[in-house]
Amino acid sequence: MAHLSILLIAFFISFSSCQQCEQTSDVDRFDCYPENGASEEKCLARNCCWRQPIEKTNRTLKRPTAFRDVNVPYCYYPKDFPTYVLQSTETTDFGQRLRINRSQSTYMPHDIMNLTVDLIYETAQRLRIRIYDTEYKRYEVPLEVPIVVRKVDQTDYDVKVNPTPFSLLVTRKSTGVTLFDSSVSPLIFADQFIKFSTKLSSPLVYGLGEHRQGLVMNITNQWKKLTFWSRDFPPVQNINLYGVHPFHINPEFLPGTSTQFHGQFLLNSNAMDIDLQPSPALTYTTIGGIIDLYVFTGPTVQNVIQQYWDVIGKPMMPPHWSLGFHLCRYGYNSIDNMIATIKRMDAADFPYDVQWTDIDAMSLYLDFTYDETNFRGLPDLVRILQASGKRYVNIIDPGISSVQPAGTYIPYEEGLKKNVFMRKYNSNELILGKVWPGTTAFPDFTHPNATDWWTNIASAFHDIVPFDGMWIDMNEPSSFIDGSTDGCTTNNLDNPPFVPNVLGGTLGSKTLCPSAQQYLFPHYNLHSMYGYFEAKASNAALKTIRNKRPFILSRSTFAGSGKFTAHWTGDNRATFDDMYFSIPAILNFNMFGITHVGADICGFGLETTEELCTRWMQLGAFYPFMRNHNDLGQKDQDPASFSYQAQQSMKQALLMRYSLVPFWYTLHHEAAMISRTIVQPLFFEFPDDMDTYNIDQQFIIGRAILVSPNLKMGTTTVSAYFPSDTWYEFPTGTKVETVGSFTTLDAPLSKINVHVRGGFVIPMQIPGDNLIIGRDNPFTLLVAQSQWGNASGNLFWDDGDSIDSIETKTYNYLEFSLTNATLLTIDALVANYKDSPMRLALIKVLGVDKTVINVNVNGKNYPNFLYNVYDQILLIYGLDLNMITEPVQTIQWTLAS
Ligand code: NOJ
Repeated sequence: MAHLSILLIAFFISFSSCQQCEQTSDVDRFDCYPENGASEEKCLARNCCWRQPIEKTNRTLKRPTAFRDVNVPYCYYPKDFPTYVLQSTETTDFGQRLRINRSQSTYMPHDIMNLTVDLIYETAQRLRIRIYDTEYKRYEVPLEVPIVVRKVDQTDYDVKVNPTPFSLLVTRKSTGVTLFDSSVSPLIFADQFIKFSTKLSSPLVYGLGEHRQGLVMNITNQWKKLTFWSRDFPPVQNINLYGVHPFHINPEFLPGTSTQFHGQFLLNSNAMDIDLQPSPALTYTTIGGIIDLYVFTGPTVQNVIQQYWDVIGKPMMPPHWSLGFHLCRYGYNSIDNMIATIKRMDAADFPYDVQWTDIDAMSLYLDFTYDETNFRGLPDLVRILQASGKRYVNIIDPGISSVQPAGTYIPYEEGLKKNVFMRKYNSNELILGKVWPGTTAFPDFTHPNATDWWTNIASAFHDIVPFDGMWIDMNEPSSFIDGSTDGCTTNNLDNPPFVPNVLGGTLGSKTLCPSAQQYLFPHYNLHSMYGYFEAKASNAALKTIRNKRPFILSRSTFAGSGKFTAHWTGDNRATFDDMYFSIPAILNFNMFGITHVGADICGFGLETTEELCTRWMQLGAFYPFMRNHNDLGQKDQDPASFSYQAQQSMKQALLMRYSLVPFWYTLHHEAAMISRTIVQPLFFEFPDDMDTYNIDQQFIIGRAILVSPNLKMGTTTVSAYFPSDTWYEFPTGTKVETVGSFTTLDAPLSKINVHVRGGFVIPMQIPGDNLIIGRDNPFTLLVAQSQWGNASGNLFWDDGDSIDSIETKTYNYLEFSLTNATLLTIDALVANYKDSPMRLALIKVLGVDKTVINVNVNGKNYPNFLYNVYDQILLIYGLDLNMITEPVQTIQWTLAS
């Protein structure tokens, strides 16, 4: 009898687990064994289901073997996998507080059995979900985010709590679309393993950086794993890179309605994987901290971005000079070579603003030194450059040499005194790595003394070499060895029970041990924020030293870094493919709030070619941050080092950039004030055009300028998409005939295709040799009429580098508006900055389809105009209007009937 009942129980268990494992499709399997080496035995030991995939055809994704296989999992959670259940619900001022608990532990050590869930209704479009240990305080990301204590009355979202098993469902009130739904897989919350999933509203996912990838992650048929842990590695696909931005945007497609968007941001800085699968669904697996998830309801994509930046902070307003062309290379090797480059650039008459030096200009690779032999005279050279309106930026690495003879290297010795270096786990000894100068200590920029120490050593160097900006490199932080000169510990920070799919397989790979001590928290938690804190300290240091708006360029970034720094995409290579990948990268970083971003133009590694460099200079002229930079040992690739023909093409692109700087500068102001991206993908502006969702070989500057570079070697045409609207070629002004489809455009090496969108007024300026010299040059207006004969635009202008011009309102702000196809007004809404003449010399109106018979400027007949009948362009020239004297000025023309 006893025998029979045991048999019955066994049968019942296997029958029920069978049922619990049953699925009609593979796409809803949530991976229960993401580590390498899954087997049936190990899977069953986790109480999970082990099955062959049903749909074998889906399993075609090819990935480098060095990385974890991403595919339909064999091992997945059964429907009844034990998880949390709701214990209590309490209504609070901020929304709701839930207590949940679990009675059975999971396969991970140290499950946290009692959790609190706070649902904070922060704004009508922003929900914050915090899930944390009820009893013990855990690590939380030290980012200053808004603290909301009172719930808003009306929200665009609805939240439903499923008690058993516990899950949350967030929907859009107006449409019922799912914005977050954690019911798809069990919540696991152990000390070093937190995992939860959400259903997505569509298989198109944008964001989730920093990774090398195309703009859209279309997971219709794809399983994808993205890993987050800052890492120094030349960008290749499918690995964790320099920065961490766990933010994504997901469109909601509903038949018959305009596309809406929502976004999510997981405020968590621990090593993390995000898995995407065709369900479509997304799984967060992080190894520390808490669940602190924001849901942004948009509904437009720019609204999602605004709502995200409200949390992480808006990008900084860059100094005006930093919008010019920057020239750098690793391996000038001597000041003579550098001077030769500067001279040939000037002789060839290229506009350029900023000269850089790399570590080869340092003495023994020591920060805050220069090589007095090979770069003898650098301080004088910098002053000469500055006198001619140029600027100078030098490189600084975080590793501070700890092995210089006593009394010779103040940065280290002062750092020791101020206690600012990171220490080994549970010890007073410094943790040491190896970087360019050999053995180095690493500043802990979260230490209260760190910013002062950094400011002092930077300032002492500034007294010798008066740099204008700081390039902070290697700040993942990068080390040439794993862990430290003494290895790492065996504790669970250095050896967590689960390691996300980081390059190198361990968290200490080519960086410091995660167990290293920082002032705020262990490096285990703060690693991916190293660059964030260094950028913050450097920004503060530069403000103190120069008393001007700072310019910082950081390689490693975290959510919110845009408040302090610009970014470049690291060590790309001189290939056409790399050039292409720069476009999704700059578009993504715009979403991440680091709007001042660019890639190393012409390629950092490998030898560039004249064709590639010409194409890349043309494209780079439309990056928010434009710097040409290459690696030690590669041949020179500054524009002046190429043939006369190539130089002409590059110069033409540079002149376009310089003529558009007032437009760029205004966009930066809008980013800093009203949270708009500087460059954006086409679908941002044309969300109802499904053809735009996958376009990442073209992009739009602001809302008005469409850039369609030629990214293919040996070709002279480009296939460009023109969304249905009015478009004019820049700079010729001719109208594009075919819209709403792909069109083949001529794209010889001499040309980059750029188009202006009807409905916009673009403020421009006659370029000077550099932005300082050209600051007072006359302005021009490009008025691109919409099909209804209207257009609008604006212009922000100040002295270009005051720290507080915005706060003190010491700027000019103008709005332009064209109405009735005949009346252009210039409205100086703020006119407090009088030091620049702001003279308007020329107005070019595009799309004027009737003959112009006369022009009036401020009510007076104005004879200097020209109407180009064939191209339908009205040119009003020889103007000398002060744009800020009168509040409203009018330029009106009469059309022949
Ligand atoms: C790595 C940086 O990414 C690169 O731009 C720089 O030239 C080298 N370090 C040398 O400093």
